[in-house]
Amino acid sequence: MDAKLNMLADGGRAAPRAAGPELALIVPTFNERGNLREVVRQVAASLGDVRWELIFVDDASPDGTAALAAEIGLEDGRVRCLNRIGRRGLAGACIEGFLATSAPIMAVMDADLQHDATLLARMLERLRTTSADLVIASRYSEGGSATEGFSAFRRFASRLSTALARFATGVAVTDPMSGFFMIRRTAFVPLAPDLASEGFKILFDILATAHGGLKIEEVTYSFAARQEGASKFDTQNILDFLGLIITKVTQGVVPVRFLSFALIGSAGILVHLAALAVLKPLGFSFGEAQTGATLVAMTSNFFLNNATTYRDRRLSGIAALKALLAFYVICGIGTLSNIGVANWLYLHYPRWIVPALIGSVIGAVWNFTLSNQLLWRK
Ligand code: GDD
Ligand code: MN
Repeated sequence: MDAKLNMLADGGRAAPRAAGPELALIVPTFNERGNLREVVRQVAASLGDVRWELIFVDDASPDGTAALAAEIGLEDGRVRCLNRIGRRGLAGACIEGFLATSAPIMAVMDADLQHDATLLARMLERLRTTSADLVIASRYSEGGSATEGFSAFRRFASRLSTALARFATGVAVTDPMSGFFMIRRTAFVPLAPDLASEGFKILFDILATAHGGLKIEEVTYSFAARQEGASKFDTQNILDFLGLIITKVTQGVVPVRFLSFALIGSAGILVHLAALAVLKPLGFSFGEAQTGATLVAMTSNFFLNNATTYRDRRLSGIAALKALLAFYVICGIGTLSNIGVANWLYLHYPRWIVPALIGSVIGAVWNFTLSNQLLWRK
């Protein structure tokens, strides 16, 4: 009936309309060229006659991942590629992939073959046959393992962050940091506006944002070693994650990037003192040396934030120079208000530590808010 209507509307030339996919696989990629074909092969083998689609979400990888994905898409209509130019971030890539499909069931899987694609059929079966909203492929429950794919440090960091995540989400799942899970569209879409696009931990964010409102199932697997290319996980991802926990625990009051920004600001004090120690013996007056050291600290804070806190929005060339000048102005005002508030408080509460701390927090909040809104805005 449907197909007949379709043909009539198009003067009989159109092919019969095919139904959309039941399952969408979102596969974030950054420099994964060497793995793409194998991922598609494994997914196809695991899913058999399920109606699926696979969306590679690539952040304009320099190795040409997106071009290869498009090539594969020409050969196999179930494969698509979303190419995000000028942006970076695993969590954001997953969110955009989810929002780009109409499939009622959606999954995230890494492109590097560390996730066992043969699980997909089982995960799908759980969602088909139970009322669960979310199926997590866990590395830690009995029967699963994470020993092969992780270095000793990553294993330790992973266990620690798992414990933290359980504390912050209040949900007792074995592997809240898994990068491999399947979720019902109806469960995901209402959460999407409150998810953070920064960082690596999309599942954690979903769990925390849902406040225990999801019905969860787990399946276990063993986390394999990476096949081609290198992991993109680094220290900044740890900071992003801690920032995300703070955001969730404060119910969104403290933004994800504030932690990284504030740490750099604190480190700036050391830079300031070091610069002072260099400038003072060179014969500058204290005022001159202090001014010089302030500029040095502000400059280093600016470039550190540009390289880490805002690496996904990194500025360069003239734009960076302009932003640096604006940063001096913003931080200058921040410092004045810090001193002003601290002095005023000290009149009422003459013990230095509390006024000094409050003044610093106000300065940091001011610097962050303005820099975030004006210099590194989306
Ligand atoms: N689009 C996009 N943008 N993709 C990215 C980015 C990015 O900035 N960074 C990483 N990816 C892609 C990689 O290409 C890979 O397909 C996948 O995301 C995972 O990245 P890896 O660099 O391989 O991460 P990992 O193996 O260290 O960490 C994985 O396992 C952890 C534990 O399960 C990820 O799945 C984590 O989310 C997970 O917590
Ligand atoms: Mn990996």
